[in-house]
Amino acid sequence: MKRTKILFLSLMAVLACSRQAGTTTGSTPEVEARVDKLLSQMTLQEKIGQMNQISAGGDVAQYAEALRAGQIGSILNEVDPEKINEYQRLAVEESRLGIPLLVSRDVIHGFHTLFPIPLGLAATFDPELVEKGARIAAIEATAQGIRWTFSPMLDIARDPRWGRIAEGSGEDTYLDARMGEAMVRGYQGNLADSTSMAACIKHFVGYGAAEGGRDYNSTYLTERQLRNVYLPPFEAAVKAGALTLMTSFNDNDGVPSTGNTFVVKDILRGEWGFDGLVVTDWNSMGEMIAHGFGEDRKDVAEKAVKAGVDMDMMTYGFLSHLEELVKEGAVKEKAIDQAVRNILRVKVMLGLFEHPYVDVAAGRAVQYAPEHLAAAQKTAEESAILLKNTGVLPLKAGVRMLVTGPLADAPHDQLGTWSFDGEKEHTVTPLKALQARFPGQVTYVPGLQFSREKRERFDDVLAAARHADVVLAFVGEEAILSGEAHSLADLNLKGSQSELLKALRSTGKPVVAVVMAGRPLTIERDLPHCDALLYSFHPGTMGGPALANLLFGDVVPSGKTPVTFLRTAGQAPMYYNHNMTGRPFIGGLLLDDIPLEAGQTSLGNTSYYLDYGAYPLFPFGYGLSYTTFAYSDIRLDKGVYGKDDVMGISFTLTNTGNCEGTEIAQVYVRDLVGSVTRPVKELKAFERITLAPGESRTVTLSLPVSELAFYGLDMVKKVEPGDFQLWVAGDSASGEALSFKVK
Ligand code: NOJ
Repeated sequence: MKRTKILFLSLMAVLACSRQAGTTTGSTPEVEARVDKLLSQMTLQEKIGQMNQISAGGDVAQYAEALRAGQIGSILNEVDPEKINEYQRLAVEESRLGIPLLVSRDVIHGFHTLFPIPLGLAATFDPELVEKGARIAAIEATAQGIRWTFSPMLDIARDPRWGRIAEGSGEDTYLDARMGEAMVRGYQGNLADSTSMAACIKHFVGYGAAEGGRDYNSTYLTERQLRNVYLPPFEAAVKAGALTLMTSFNDNDGVPSTGNTFVVKDILRGEWGFDGLVVTDWNSMGEMIAHGFGEDRKDVAEKAVKAGVDMDMMTYGFLSHLEELVKEGAVKEKAIDQAVRNILRVKVMLGLFEHPYVDVAAGRAVQYAPEHLAAAQKTAEESAILLKNTGVLPLKAGVRMLVTGPLADAPHDQLGTWSFDGEKEHTVTPLKALQARFPGQVTYVPGLQFSREKRERFDDVLAAARHADVVLAFVGEEAILSGEAHSLADLNLKGSQSELLKALRSTGKPVVAVVMAGRPLTIERDLPHCDALLYSFHPGTMGGPALANLLFGDVVPSGKTPVTFLRTAGQAPMYYNHNMTGRPFIGGLLLDDIPLEAGQTSLGNTSYYLDYGAYPLFPFGYGLSYTTFAYSDIRLDKGVYGKDDVMGISFTLTNTGNCEGTEIAQVYVRDLVGSVTRPVKELKAFERITLAPGESRTVTLSLPVSELAFYGLDMVKKVEPGDFQLWVAGDSASGEALSFKVK
């Protein structure tokens, strides 16, 4: 035992010595020496060429001259492995220095085998499983020559009107950070391996705070909000070794990210020491002209490079103007060298110089491998959230089902947003899964062909419902209603879906609603019209079998809401970890209770809406199971902690129901008094715990007191001593507070 430990420690010491000091990518002196040697042989034009990323596609020959001249450092959007090999061949064999290309793609929640959308991944609260999914995505994508993915998206999203909420981990900083690290580990795997794919953490920074939830809109985040809420997931992913980062489209407080020296140069490079590659978003350099932040392409190219951007995605600003800017003395060649170093470092670390090509036939063989499909199914099972159940679920094996709704057999839509390479021919829909498993028990009448369809009468569906024991209604959103540029102001079910549910309910048959969507829709008006509701987000390729297993109890739902579910879109932004106000809600009159001509007063009022009250429909971290859980004996190992202590939190969880189930236990903390106002609660830890019926387990979690640090009045990150409260519960709105002190 001792010997193993000593060996391990010496190995760590060797690794630590060979790792370049101050690197976050894990670069070594050998890598740096190679990069420097290459750099010393490059002309200024060749260096600038490395900083240029273009969208490929179509005929490779049209890019041949530029590749031979070393004018392209990276391509995106080519997925044909034969063409990718040809691009690489032109770069490696026909350019002067033979530098391979970084071939990139938006591999967001799987490549061919699609996993649930990232918001669904977050609902699993299972970083290990999410890491495995990212690994599988990398295995499939790298097998076709793609070595760089523009994922994970780490934007905190507190407004479900924003369509890109689908692409991230929701509203919580801690959960987002854990998911981000997991994806970085999964994509990058072992860098020396040819299945390693560089991760790109995006969009730096604040993009999810678009005013009004309208994509591309301005954000107004203070430095403190950035540092306490929006930046930590990026910092965690940088620490996890993310090789690349993307700047965002938005301007924050007037400064577009691609020209934002404070966030890129000072924080990312300076404070965190990031030595990876910074790429712009698609033409986000060019968009600085539309923002009115630069006069022309030359001006924005100068601003971007000075802010610390290394690679230009599709503005051609660097390619057209950097040489001129260097010659004029406006940009130093040293700055160009630094950018090129960051790019070459990634290429060297990925082993691209040794293995620029892929084996096309072998690459095809790994797509949709059975173990990939099995992992996608397990992830879809863990990501579904049970939001209502009067006891109709799980279903009994012999039931006659009416399957209905626009998402019951929508192989394209169930894949969700950013599923470029998912092929609907491989999707298993709930209808197909149920028909295969229960031949003769399924009647299918879609009712609505797509989610936006409007229809007055549902006679055909209702007639079929009368012959069924249970109605399974698959409703939600088409994939195209969420994702980039697809913001919504109204979050109710679209088309006549609510009317369909209402009509089905009128038959007196039990109605089970399954919602497939890219965001938390406002489903309050639909809840009375179903006996059970399972929220699956867009569940990916294997959503069908996963949902069949959940409906019939082969798998017990365990997902929890990664974002607050609103009663109405007008409540947005509403999130659980808001700051303490001076008027916390203690009740108040609602619209219909207010007397006519009531007198205006400021006294006794608290923070809420007259029409929708103070609370959401479902809080963050919420989700039911087919069993029930009870928390008891929640204890802290001390009452007073020092700043360097590690808190020991223990509790007993009991499965008080009739079947095995998994609970996601959550630990929340409130810092009662700070130099600035603090959130009412913040998630600090979570744990998935599986228990047999009647089983109890005492669980102990460790929480370093340093995790309570934040940026206070002096903008220095530290733990402020004082009184705290802590909850251990199954969601963010439950549990009894314990008290402790930090001295
Ligand atoms: C624009 C999107 O904002 C970004 O997330 C994506 O990676 C790039 N386009 C490349 O497709």
